[in-house]
Parts: sequence; C-alpha cells; structure tokens
Amino acid sequence: MQVRTENNRELTAFESDVLTGFSSTPKHLPSKYFYDDEGSRLFQEIMHLPEYYLTRAEYEILETHTAAILARFLDKKKAFNLIELGAGDGLKTKLLLKYFVAQKVDFRYAPIDISAEALQQLTQNVTTHLPTLKVQPIEGDYFTALRQVKVQEGARNVVLFLGSNIGNFSYQASIDFLSQLKASLQPNDLLLLGFDLKKHPQIILNAYNDASGVTRAFNLNLLKRLNQTLDANFDLRQFDHYPTYDPHSGEARSYLVSKIAQEVHLKEVDETVVFQAGETIHTEISRKYTEEEMKGIAQKAGFEWVKSFTDSNCYFVDAVFRVV
Ligand code: AVI
Repeated sequence: MQVRTENNRELTAFESDVLTGFSSTPKHLPSKYFYDDEGSRLFQEIMHLPEYYLTRAEYEILETHTAAILARFLDKKKAFNLIELGAGDGLKTKLLLKYFVAQKVDFRYAPIDISAEALQQLTQNVTTHLPTLKVQPIEGDYFTALRQVKVQEGARNVVLFLGSNIGNFSYQASIDFLSQLKASLQPNDLLLLGFDLKKHPQIILNAYNDASGVTRAFNLNLLKRLNQTLDANFDLRQFDHYPTYDPHSGEARSYLVSKIAQEVHLKEVDETVVFQAGETIHTEISRKYTEEEMKGIAQKAGFEWVKSFTDSNCYFVDAVFRVV
C-alpha cells in the first residue's frame, strides 16, 4: 500500500483512508469525511427536510420527556457532568439545558466535537441564552476529549450520544465504540443514547432519498471534497446518489454510482482510480434497530438498560443506559 506521496511526503490519515477505500473491492469511503464545511451545512439542511423524520422525532422526545429524563440523571446524586459526544449545533440539547438550568440543577455541560468552529458557535449560543450555565467545551476526538473532562467530586458522568450517530457504525463497530466509552466511565455513570427504530422500509428509504435532492448533494459532496483537497478531477455529473434499505439487517446504505466507465486522477497523491460503468462506492451506513437489538449491543459493551423514551410515532428512541 502507498504510504508516501510521489514527492516523498507521508500520507495524511485522510489520504490513506481514501486510497485504501478506492483500492478495495467493492470501493468504499468513510462517512466521517462527509463533514467538511459544505457537508456540515448540507447536513443541517437535511435535518430540516420533511422526509428526514429523525431530528424531529428526537426533538419531540427531549421536549416531552425532559423532566423524566432529568429524574433518571439525578437519581440519588445531586450533581452531574453532562458530556455530549459530537455536539453539533446543540439544538436538541438546548431543550435539556434550558430545563436543567431552570430547575437549578448542579451540573456542568461539556460538549465534545472535532470541529473547533462548531464548538465555538455552540458555546457562544448556549452561554448567550443561558448565562449561568457552566460550559467546558472540549475539542478533539471522543476518547481523547473524554479524558479531559474535569470530574466534579461526587458528580456522576452522563454522556449524551444523540441523533442516531451510533447508526453510522457497523454492528461490531458499535459494540467496540460503546465498550471503549464504557472503559472511560465509572460504574453508575449514564449514557443517553439516541437511535432510530426499524419501521416501514419506505419511510426509511425516503429519509435518505429526499425529493429536493439535498441528500444527493450531501453524498456527492464527498467527491467535491476529493477534488478540492486531493486535486482530483471527479466529474460530479457522471456519478449518481443511490440509497438502499434492507429491512432485515436494518441497514440503510448510501452509494455513489459511476454512470460511465471512467478514470479519475488524484493529483495530490498521484493515483488514478478506474471505474466501470455502474460501479459503486459505498459511502455510508445508517443502521436502524429494534429496541431489543440495541439493548443487546449495549449489554455486550457493559451497559445495563434503565429506561426508554419514544416519540408519538414510535419512530425513534432515546434510551438511558447505566455503566455496570
Ligand atoms: C449523522 N447521521 C446520524 C445521519 C444519518 O441519518 O445517518 C447522516 C445522514 N446521512 C444522510 N442523511 C443523514
């Protein structure tokens, strides 16, 4: 495998992932690379689409069950650290924060995000609306950042992992991720996990194939990113967005399809990628679960189920799990 560029520079993790993905059969690209500035903007748009029910469903859950969620967080403890993984714009979390502040709960909010810009905006936004809130934003990947959370004496950690982000992992990767999360927590710490439920397959497929084409643009933006950062020459008009959903496995998958036989050059790493007509690049998995399936995954990772909250359509679940 190529480890250095032509001019003897070491490959970045991004470059190495892209080259690995393109030299595999079938081809794939990691979905974490969707989120450059344009990709993050498109994802914000997706969350407001009529077909993308996930955000609305979770918003309804957090709005309806705020008091019951707080009761679980407090339990016999008086204080907690509220740690959010992949905080994004914090729109849904603000529902919880507002209520907790109004109830004069003793807690500290520690949003963790890889994007410094997203964190800065979020911190500014929450402190403007909630000036008394104690915020400790931490930039970085989840596990390095978790080690930096200042532990308050006698306070439990409550981790928020919302928005069905868990669904972007494969089955085994979700167990590995939650196991790693558990390893950085203490017994009795909590996890509020947002996940999407299996439902009528057409409803799910539509969420990843919206009529206005925003999800299509989101998927194709990955190739645009390669053009910009790797000086590649992908012609976006020669690729299609192709989403699928398998109701048995619960996997919604997104692909990019090469409409023609073509060659694409990635100048920065001096690689040529050959595509057959109709060949696919797998770009994302968005897994859906039954509640029992998710309980099983969490249990394998060392968490015990405590309580589930759902929306009026029973489309989505936010479940509280406890570290055993
Ligand atoms: C971030 N993640 C949970 C979204 C999802 O539903 O898998 C990303 C997304 N991809 C296409 N639309 C939304």
